[in-house]
Formats: sequence, C-alpha cells, structure tokens
Amino acid sequence: MIVAFFLVLVMCLSACHHADTPAYKDSTLTPAQRAEDLLSRMTLEEKVGQMNQFVGLEHIRLNSSVMTEDELYRNTASGYYPGYSISNVEEMIREGKVGSFLHVLTMEEANHLQQLCLESRLGIPCLIGIDAIHGNAKCYGNTVYPTHIGLACSFDTALAYTIARQTAQEMRAMNMYWTFDPNVEVARDPRWGRVGETFGEDPYLVSLMGVQTTRGLQEGGVLACVKHFIAGSQSQNGTNGAPADLSERTLRQVFFPPFEANVRASVATLMPSHNELNGIPCHSNYDLIENTARRDWGFKGLVISDWMDIEHLHDLHFTAVDNKDAFRQAILAGIDVHMHGPEWNEAVCQLVREGAISEQRIDQSVRRILETKFRLGIFEHPFSRAEIRDSICFCPEHQQTALQAAQQSIVLLKNENLLPIHPEQYHRIMITGINADDENIMGDWSEPQPEENLWTVVRGLHTVLPQADIHFVDQGWDPQHMSPTQVARAEAEAQKADLNIIVAGEYMMRKRWMERTGGEDTDRSNIDLVGLQNQLIERVAASGKPTILILISGRPLGVTYAAEHLPAIIQAWEPGQFGGLAIAQIIVGKVNPSAKLAVTIPRHVGQVGMYYNHLPSMYFHPYAAGESSAPLWPFGYGLSYSTFRYSNLKVSDTLPIRVSAQITNTSQRDGVEIAQLYIRDRYSAITRPVKELKGFKRVALTAGETKQIEFVLTRQDLQYIGPEMKPVFEPGEFEIMVGASSRDEDLLKQTINIDK
Ligand code: BGC
Repeated sequence: MIVAFFLVLVMCLSACHHADTPAYKDSTLTPAQRAEDLLSRMTLEEKVGQMNQFVGLEHIRLNSSVMTEDELYRNTASGYYPGYSISNVEEMIREGKVGSFLHVLTMEEANHLQQLCLESRLGIPCLIGIDAIHGNAKCYGNTVYPTHIGLACSFDTALAYTIARQTAQEMRAMNMYWTFDPNVEVARDPRWGRVGETFGEDPYLVSLMGVQTTRGLQEGGVLACVKHFIAGSQSQNGTNGAPADLSERTLRQVFFPPFEANVRASVATLMPSHNELNGIPCHSNYDLIENTARRDWGFKGLVISDWMDIEHLHDLHFTAVDNKDAFRQAILAGIDVHMHGPEWNEAVCQLVREGAISEQRIDQSVRRILETKFRLGIFEHPFSRAEIRDSICFCPEHQQTALQAAQQSIVLLKNENLLPIHPEQYHRIMITGINADDENIMGDWSEPQPEENLWTVVRGLHTVLPQADIHFVDQGWDPQHMSPTQVARAEAEAQKADLNIIVAGEYMMRKRWMERTGGEDTDRSNIDLVGLQNQLIERVAASGKPTILILISGRPLGVTYAAEHLPAIIQAWEPGQFGGLAIAQIIVGKVNPSAKLAVTIPRHVGQVGMYYNHLPSMYFHPYAAGESSAPLWPFGYGLSYSTFRYSNLKVSDTLPIRVSAQITNTSQRDGVEIAQLYIRDRYSAITRPVKELKGFKRVALTAGETKQIEFVLTRQDLQYIGPEMKPVFEPGEFEIMVGASSRDEDLLKQTINIDK
C-alpha cells in the first residue's frame, strides 16, 4: 500500500515536470518529495555510492607524499586506499559513487569535489564533513576556540551555542556542512586521551552543553553529529576503543542521557563508538542504534560509522569473517554512511545482489542521505566563494568570542596571595615550559594557524606587560624529549627572576601524530606530567622565587608536587588561539577568573574512578597507608579573585520545589560566581549518588553586592532509573544543596520530605 502510494506520487511528480527538469531539481518541493523522485532514478551502484565516504583528495596526496606505504598502513589517522590513485577517486566521484567526504581542509578543494559530483549522471552534490570540534580549527585561517572541556568549565551554555553557531558560519563559508561534533561522552577516566573533547564528567552538564552545541551548529546551517555511541570514554583500561563493560543501569543513568537529550533536540547525525559494549561492537549493535536511538528516542537522522570501524568488526573485534561480512552487519544494525574507502561499493552491491541485504534497506539509508542534502540546500548552493570565506572566517566578532571563551574557561586552582600579580613588584619575569610559546595551546583537533592569529602565553605577557623584562627559556615543544641543559638554564634563570612562570602540560598537535601525549589515541597509564616537566617545576621552585604553574592539557593531571609547593596553579585546558592572551590577562588581573572544574582532578592514576557523583559506599573504607581518598581538586571547584559567601538557603517542600539562596561578593573586586545546585535522594530502592548536579547559574556580582538566586526542581529532576529500568519517582527525603563546588564544605544543605 505504502509502496503503491509512493509510486503514484513519483509518477505524478515526474509528470508534472518538464521532461528536461526532473522533479528532484525543483526546490519548491519538499526534501522528502525530491528525495523520493531522485531515489527512483538511481541505480544500485549510485545508491550504495551515496552511503560511502572518502577522505579528501589533498589528504590522500599529502599523506602519501610524506609517509611510506608501511607507515600509511599502520597510521590510524591517514586515509589510505591501496591501488587507488587520485584520478581513480575522481573518476569514482564522476560516476556518482561517493556520497560524502571528510578531511577536506580548503574551500577550493570543497568546491572542486562538488564540481566533480555535479558532473555525475544525476549531479548529486556531496556532503563535506570535517571534525570542526572547537571551531573549524583544522582549516587554516579559521577561528580556534577552547576545546569542550574548558568550555564546560565556563558553565555557560549560551556561550556554547554562540561558538557552535559561529563555527557553522565559518564551515559554510568554507563550503563544509557536516561536523563530527559534539562529543557528548561522559568522561570519568583521565587516562583516556580524549577527555579534552568532552564536556566533562557530569551527565547533566554534558547534556546541556551538548544540546546547545548541536542547536548552534544546526541553526547555523550545518549537520551536528553526537558521538561516540557509547561508552568509549569508559573502556576497561582507559584506552581508546578498548572494551567497555557496563551495567544497563549505569548506561541509562550516566552515559545515555546526553545522547538522548541531543536526539530529542533533533541532532542530525550520530556516530557509534570504536569499542564493544558488553561483548557487542557498537558498530554492529542493532539494539543500540535501532532500538535505543531510533525507536526509543526517535532519532531520525543519519548514523555514520567512525573511522574504519566497520572494517574493525573483522580485523579488530573478529565478529565478521571479512570486510564484506562487516559491511553487512553494520548496515543491518542501522548504519547509513561508511567512513571511509573504496572497498564498500562493490561489496555492498554484491550483498544486495546475493540477497543478504534488501534493496529496501539500502533505499532507507539513501532516502535519509538525500533528504539531508536537500534540507541543507546544497543542490541549490553547491559552492562558496573566496569573498564569503574571507569576510566570515576569523572575523572580529568570532575573535572576540574566542577570547571571551578562553577567559571564561581557565580555572584558577590554587592561589596563595600571588595572583593577580602587581607588575611593579615583579620586574624580571622568567617564563618557560613546553607550552609557553607553542601553537599547541590551541589543543587537539587543530592544525597550524597563521602566526599573527595565535596568542601564546609569551606573546600574551608581552602584550599585557609591555614594560616588563621577560626572559623566555625555551624547552621545545616535545615533553618526551626535553633537554636537561634547558632545564638547568631555567633553574639558573629562575634565581635571577622576580617571578617565574612555567607553562607545562601535554602535547596535542595532530601534525605530529605519533609524538603526542594528549588527545585522541594518546591514552596513558598514568596522569603525571610527562618527561622532565616535574623536574623543571621542582628546580624552578627551588629558587624560592614566586612561581606560577599553568597547565595546558585536555586531561586532568595529577600535579601533586606543584599542588603542595607552588603558590599558584592555573588549569587553562586547551584554551584555543586566544589562550595565551587570556592567561596573561588573568595573571595581571585584567580578567577575574570564574571557571569551575567540569571534571574531578585526581591526585594520581591509582585514584581513577574518582568522580563527584559516586555511590554512597564508594569511600566507606578509605585508602590505607595514609593515602588520600579525596581528589586534588573536586568537580565544580575553581577560585576567583573575588570571594563569595552563600547564605539564606530556602527550600519549599512541595513539588515543584523552589530553592533560593543569597550570594554576596565579600571582596573589593567585581566577579562572576558559578552557583551550583545538587540533590541527594536520601533513601531509595536502588542506591543513588551522594550528589547530583541539577542546576547552575553564572552570577555576576559587583564588589560587596548580594543577589538572590533561584532554582526550580520538578518531579522529573527527582526521578531515577528504578528497579524495572524505567524512570521512577520515590517520595521521601531529599537533601538539597547549593554552593560553590561539589565539596561538602562549600555547600549549604537542607533536607526536605516530598510526599506523593
Ligand atoms: C574519531 C572520530 C572522528 C573521525 C574522523 C575518528 O578517529 O574517533 O571522532 O570524527 O576519526 O576524523
């Protein structure tokens, strides 16, 4: 019946159009009508081609010019199509056998690919995808904002929206329309190299930041992609892609909510994770994709595989006997787009001819892909122009947002009366460390940018302290190969200086893929500073001169020595292009820090599994032998140059619960406080976390000012995943907490009794 209806519709659409102008080219029809018409004209080969993605031609050209065959084969980040030349790929595009691309870095190349697509029989434009993770940072001349972990520390969801929207504008100006972002994984393990890509450890905060990112991207005209579905952040050993083994309850309570929230916010695409979950690889997991995302949450968009992960069903998970079998499994599990490579086309056509996959199943994916393309408007506007690119990318408004985001995302962790510095007290300043003057400050997922667009800390200091006598002792970019001579030089210089600044951390730049210590595929078995960095800190500190430590990293680092011995520590995360300026402004007090940790910082790797919303029995038996059971710094923690006092907590005891409190800026400085609301369900059928974040507010307070803040908690906020794996509300006692961090001593508390 449905088939008959569509046949009639398609015949009618075709009849209504001039023979030379097929209905799918008529922009007055709906995307669904156009997709249906186009689909009816396509061969199987063309349909299967739409489901396939390739890396960009320049990516292939560049990698094969700098890597040997063997290196290409072993390098997990390079597109490598043995036996295919660039002209072979161009031919495939002209034959309509490629539906989308990734790793296309210039507008010229994006336009060129579109031109090739338009030369194909049906002229279907391609989707150009890119990992625009914190700005379209892989593209030269675009704006690089802080990575998500820093952005999450701002607790500023409106800012997340603005950044995403600006990113989308820059992408469209570059003729790119699909970003593989936001990563909405909940990050509870700092060994995992990708913590910096996430919004931290709290499902509520991750959900809100993720949804605003998705909205900003999509309202800006590009497709967002929530990833990685699911639990890639929680592998058994902390390494990327290793097995995750998690209970259904933990999945539903901790890891699913950000994905569900984004699906309900109409995210256009979704990417499964590399790993297996409880024995089933996520790329062949029908239950996750079809039952959970599509049926239960109503996901309507495209599911794209992650990098070679369908093939990994065969060569890594060994659940498919060959790649063809892997393609079959992935398609039957609900995947629409293959990232990436030529083997797909013929193998999938064969699967259909052999009856292993029905053509209807292929049509289902192709329909989604075509509709998406029509909705984006790229049939009508397949190209961009240099004037558009040059007027939008890195425009003053975007620069201003990137600077503001850096200022709001830098967390002041420790300050014993040193910061902000009084410049007149510190004339001679020594600055050193691998991240003092390096582009690495931009963070993972960025490629080199024009030098004049980049603010390192050294450049920032020269700008805010033009009169100061600043001595930079270069430690190179590479934490793994630091020079003992340069460490000794810094030690000597430290003694002559009035103030020392060490900019330490990790190395994330993708251009040196194999040398990185942070970012994707750089998982670690400890969370200490790498190389001679600790030695550098100790030897500089031994000068007895005031020393500030600044950390540039995506993951939390267990800097216990510094925490004990240095007077000031700043966690700057991966603050983007304007990071160095924002850090310098904070050092001199031009900016008052306000960010709070979106992730717990453990002392050392042995504490891993430490997060604020743990279950009550977690530390019943504290660690023995005098070892601490408290983190170095807890979730929600961060200092300001202002001081704030919370008072007057009032909580109503009927639903919806009204919570109010007062915050007073008790200092002489204007500042911004991030107030947090936590709840605890006191007694419950299933064990519940000791705290759960349920609200937060950024509150600007002038010196001496008092403001009242208010929150409302609904019945839904009090629900949890009950014994039947469904949300339940249990009446009874709830503890309501409001304050400056997740630490008990920072919270005002009141217990209320809520009955039915
Ligand atoms: C990552 C994805 C990314 C893809 C394309 C993979 O290695 O896991 O997050 O989108 O590469 O660059």
